[in-house]
Amino acid sequence: MTRKMHLNLFIQSRGHHEASWRHPDASPLALTDIRFYEDMAQRAEKGLFDSIFLADQLALDADVGRAGRTWLEPITVLAALARATNRIGLIATASTTYTEPFNLARQFASLDHISGGRVGWNIVTSWLATAARNFGGDGQVSHADRYARGEEFMQVVKGLWDSWADDAVIDDRACGQYAKADHIRPIDHAGAYYKVAGPLNMPRGPQGRPVFVQAGSSDTGRRFAARHAEAVFTAQMEKATAQAFYADLKALAVAEGRAVDQVQILPGLSPLIAATEAEAQRQVRALNDLTDPEVGRRRLSSRFGGHDFSHLPLDKPLSPEDFPDPGTVEAARSRTEVIVGLVRREKPTLRQLLASLAGARGHYTAAGTPEQIADLMQGWFEDGAADGFNVMPPVLPASLDIFVAEVIPLLQRRGLFRTAYEGETLREHYGLARPPSAFHAAG
Ligand SMILES: Cc1cc2nc3c(=O)[nH]c(=O)nc-3n(C[C@H](O)[C@H](O)[C@H](O)COP(=O)(O)O)c2cc1C
Repeated sequence: MTRKMHLNLFIQSRGHHEASWRHPDASPLALTDIRFYEDMAQRAEKGLFDSIFLADQLALDADVGRAGRTWLEPITVLAALARATNRIGLIATASTTYTEPFNLARQFASLDHISGGRVGWNIVTSWLATAARNFGGDGQVSHADRYARGEEFMQVVKGLWDSWADDAVIDDRACGQYAKADHIRPIDHAGAYYKVAGPLNMPRGPQGRPVFVQAGSSDTGRRFAARHAEAVFTAQMEKATAQAFYADLKALAVAEGRAVDQVQILPGLSPLIAATEAEAQRQVRALNDLTDPEVGRRRLSSRFGGHDFSHLPLDKPLSPEDFPDPGTVEAARSRTEVIVGLVRREKPTLRQLLASLAGARGHYTAAGTPEQIADLMQGWFEDGAADGFNVMPPVLPASLDIFVAEVIPLLQRRGLFRTAYEGETLREHYGLARPPSAFHAAG
């Protein structure tokens, strides 16, 4: 079978451009209206996307007065989307730093049952410094500590999802036997961070466990992804860095004893599509004209863990010395590497840097015709930069609709994308194996 591209729709605000929330083509629905999420997921399902994805942060952005970026809690939203869609995969973000593993394991097991095996978990350690203060802490939990905790968290939740054998439930009303009690066992985990007896109080879900998605790209983040992730989101601003990331992560996964096709790598792509390239560029300028540089400046500061950029003039070229060394950043480390890399290469002014980040926060942005976008995707897919894309439409639903109407048929005609859903579960869409229960592994 020829290799096919995988596509995920990243739903955020009324689009990924910083100013999308106030754009005339954006959805008229409130960001707290479940119909907004249902509408986007249904449009993506019509386009045969593998999945939709909801990000999450555990603190309110300081710029809320001037930026429309509130959202509903993703696990709750997925339950609604599971009932509003039939085939598309559903991925929610949840934090290993600020959630108890037992709670998370039962929420995702429930969602896997509710959705008929379509759920995925974006595993995050929560980089946002202000989140700590909502969970009893005073300041940022260090990068190293977050990943150490995350590693143990994975051991616990995997144990819980395997604490029921697949055939543990009999539900034999005539004989009066509901389950084989010896096919359900505790996990008795006691580690540095967690003490969890188990078993989970619910049978194993259709997929065994949710599809594991991860998006950390620092050295530690990549090693974590290589051990656990089945789909990897990443922000890359150039094809060359995407190729280097792809090769590195696949090699790390193989070194962990995993099959190369069991880790699907999806760089972010924010495409602005129009009938001509000039029209697409004009639309980018119109969107950028709606941005507020002070919102961008605050957001930049948050990425760098609260670093103060208020003294930097908007129109003087930047140098890497204007930024803290990414290796010392405890927040979104790999994204700060992307930003400092861009400054080193292009020496933009702060205004230009903020305009470029306004598009999709350091993900790849492209403006062009449907053919140009399809060519770009094909090039990345065939040249070892991507197994597919995390599609981040600048304005929702307008840019998603153009993508579905114009780009997907081109990809299909080129044999690069499915023409119908073949599988039922998210694992099947991504070509991922169903993990056997530990009971079966033990024979
Ligand atoms: C597409 C994408 C989506 C992400 N979504 C979230 C999110 O919802 N919540 C979060 O705390 N971090 C999110 N992150 C951040 C990553 O989980 C990670 O913390 C960040 O990339 C820094 O990684 P590093 O610490 O390994 O450098 C996302 C990253 C990417 C590329």
